[in-house]
Formats: sequence, structure tokens, C-alpha cells
Amino acid sequence: MSNSLISLLDRVDTHPGPAALRARSYELLALAAGSRVADVGCGTGRAVAEMAALGADPVGLDVDAHMIEEARSRHPGLDFRRADACDLPFGDGELAGYRADKVYHDLADPERAVAEARRVLAPGGRIVLVGQDWDTFVIDADDPALTRVMVHARADTIPSPHAARRYRTLLVDAGFTDVTAEVRTGVFTDEALLPMVTGVAEGAYAAGAVTRRQADEWIAEQAERARRGRLFLAVPMFLSAGRRP
Ligand SMILES: C[S@@+](CC[C@H](N)C(=O)[O-])C[C@H]1O[C@@H](n2cnc3c(N)ncnc32)[C@H](O)[C@@H]1O
Repeated sequence: MSNSLISLLDRVDTHPGPAALRARSYELLALAAGSRVADVGCGTGRAVAEMAALGADPVGLDVDAHMIEEARSRHPGLDFRRADACDLPFGDGELAGYRADKVYHDLADPERAVAEARRVLAPGGRIVLVGQDWDTFVIDADDPALTRVMVHARADTIPSPHAARRYRTLLVDAGFTDVTAEVRTGVFTDEALLPMVTGVAEGAYAAGAVTRRQADEWIAEQAERARRGRLFLAVPMFLSAGRRP
């Protein structure tokens, strides 16, 4: 599972949109030299390396041992630890910053993770949540009605598919102040991103929402679009930030 996720993330990360989104998240964190900041659900550690290059003192945390192993091998010398977003290995008020990028949709209880973030942040500490809402994937396809069914069915296989549209409310409800929300849409048209599109059909098939034949025909159409330079996927990315009082 994590190998296919790693290769998908590597493909996405070559795009300027995701790089700009990460840069915006560092701005929102207001990183100062030497500030202790956690990247929760760090994956292969790209953001940890970027924040270290900006002069912060970052630590990457991920629940998946394979991700931590990969992050350590890609970024030797940086601090990566295996931990759950709901049980972070820090004392109260230890951190100046907290970010979680494309993670909260994986959590059964995002409220618990935000409460844990608030616990480990010092007064004045900044939090930034980034991610996609799984019901708002826009995919150009010959059969928009079937595509809608597939996007919704795929979303229903995710533990918290709408976490991203709730980021702002999660932060406000957890008592963060100066909460902001913004949305930047990622647009993907190149063939390398085909697995992100076909994953929607595979998810919908696994959920029993479409037949194997419907999924295969739709995937074949998308593969042909990709081959002819006609792939179109737009994904609004939600960012919310706040300050611990
Ligand atoms: C889609 S990846 C995003 C990785 C990275 N943040 C990025 O933007 O490239 C989601 C990551 O969150 C991690 N994750 C999922 N549930 C988690 C949890 N409960 N605690 C910590 N990490 C978690 C996964 O193992 C995975 O590495």
C-alpha cells in the first residue's frame, strides 16, 4: 500500500501547484529560525526537509513504519519518528508549529487529532491543515453521471472524506484563534497523474458502486485521454490555519 502511495505522492510533488501549496503552509506557520515544528503524517519527509532548509527545527511523524524508514533514507540526519496523530510524543506546549498535509481524511476522529495538536502547541503556536475534500474531485469524462457516482463512492471508502471542508470549524471548535481558510485548486493534465484518476474507478468498484466492466471501460477512456493529452483532473485543496491562544 505505501509503495503505491509513495510513487503517487512523488508524481504529484513534481507539480508546481503542490510545491506552492507547501510554501504557503510554511508562510502560514510563520516559521522562525530554530522553531520546533511537527509535520504530522509526514510521508517521505519532503516538507520536513524543506522546513529544515528554511531554518526551522522540524520533526516528521507518521503512523506507517515504512514511511518513516523511507523518510529516514531520503533525508539522513533529519528527525523522523513513528507516532499516531492522536498520541504525539511531546509534552504539553512543546511545539511552536504543527502542520498536517493530506492526513486528516485518514483519521476516524479528526477532532481528537486537533485536540492533541492544541495540547502540544505552546501559547502563540501556529497550526496549519492542508488537504483535499474527496467529494470535490472534478474529472472530465464522457459519462459525467457515472463519474459522479464513482467520485462519491470512492469518497465513501475514506474514513473522513470531508475533513478538509471542516478544517476551519475543527480549528474554531478546538479553541484556536485567528483562524483562516483558503482554497487553491490543483489542476492535473499529464499522463503521470493517470493513477490518481483510475484510483477513483478502482475504489468505486471495490465499494460495489460500479461493475468491473463499467470501471474498466471508464479507465480505458481515461487512459486514452491521457495518451492524447486530454486528461483533466481538478482538485480544490483546502488550507486552514490558526493560533493557539
Ligand atoms: C497522503 S499521505 C501524505 C503525506 C505527506 N503529508 C505529503 O503531503 O506528502 C498521508 C500520510 O498520513 C499518514 N497517516 C495516516 N494516518 C495517520 C495517523 N493516524 N497518524 C499519523 N500519520 C498518519 C500516512 O501513513 C501517510 O504517510
